[in-house]
Amino acid sequence: MASIAGKVAIITGASRGIGRAIALKLAGNGASIVVNYAGNASKAQEVVAEIEQLGVQAIAIQADVSQVADIQRLFEQTLERFGKVDILVNNAGIAFYKPITQVTEEDFDQIFAINVKGTYFACQQAAQHMAEGGRIINFSSSTTVMMLPTYSAYVATKGAVEQITRVLAKELGAKAIAVNVISPGPTDTELFREGKTQEQIDRLAQMAAFGKLGEVQEIADVVAFLASDEARWITGQNIRVNGGIA
Ligand SMILES: NC(=O)c1ccc[n+]([C@@H]2O[C@H](COP(=O)([O-])OP(=O)(O)OC[C@H]3O[C@@H](n4cnc5c(N)ncnc54)[C@H](OP(=O)(O)O)[C@@H]3O)[C@@H](O)[C@H]2O)c1
Repeated sequence: MASIAGKVAIITGASRGIGRAIALKLAGNGASIVVNYAGNASKAQEVVAEIEQLGVQAIAIQADVSQVADIQRLFEQTLERFGKVDILVNNAGIAFYKPITQVTEEDFDQIFAINVKGTYFACQQAAQHMAEGGRIINFSSSTTVMMLPTYSAYVATKGAVEQITRVLAKELGAKAIAVNVISPGPTDTELFREGKTQEQIDRLAQMAAFGKLGEVQEIADVVAFLASDEARWITGQNIRVNGGIA
């Protein structure tokens, strides 16, 4: 794959899980990396250290994406350090699985604040600061079409992210910024395993055509493609990276 050397990428939620794999993959392809995290400073620093071992520049920046002021500071600190932003990966997200009768107002507000408001206002910063030819890669989930009981609030946030992506692809097209969304299937991370029994995990794994859970590298490889010059004619698309689950 063509190098993205010289590009600057912000990856939200890059201290763990899929975000960490994306940070390492884009660094391996030569981009300077901003490792955003919410609370896990030591994990974020470990990712920075791994990237620096590749001979690539990286910085960890704490910012809670549910706070617009934090997102603004994330971009300000990135511009101070690297002078530009070429790639934004809106990966940070949370999930919970509850019957609708048990979902509280706080649950609802928190999941929308992180998954939707965070993505939206990071896109706003990108629209203001991103160089021409930039890439925004948002995160939905293949569960949006699986109609799984207890997922109503989570898939509502991801449906919103898909709609934001479609409109911004047209709106930011004039600046040659491509906006796409990735919809992973069940992928083996803390977020995926939390609150599930082994039986539930096995059942979800068996639903994929390949009969297994996704691995974080399988998602990161597709993000790297969307960030590359080879993907320059792809915008406004939802790429479902899920081993054929739905
Ligand atoms: N895993 C799956 O099966 C799956 C499937 C479909 C879609 N997805 C989507 O893929 C994305 C990544 O999921 P994952 O499984 O890798 O999650 P994860 O392992 O739980 O990691 C979540 C990451 O997001 C960060 N984060 C959480 N809240 C944040 C906030 N308010 N501000 C900034 N960062 C925050 C965490 O930072 P700290 O370490 O500092 O807490 C962490 O780096 C999410 O958008 C998720 O919805 C995942």
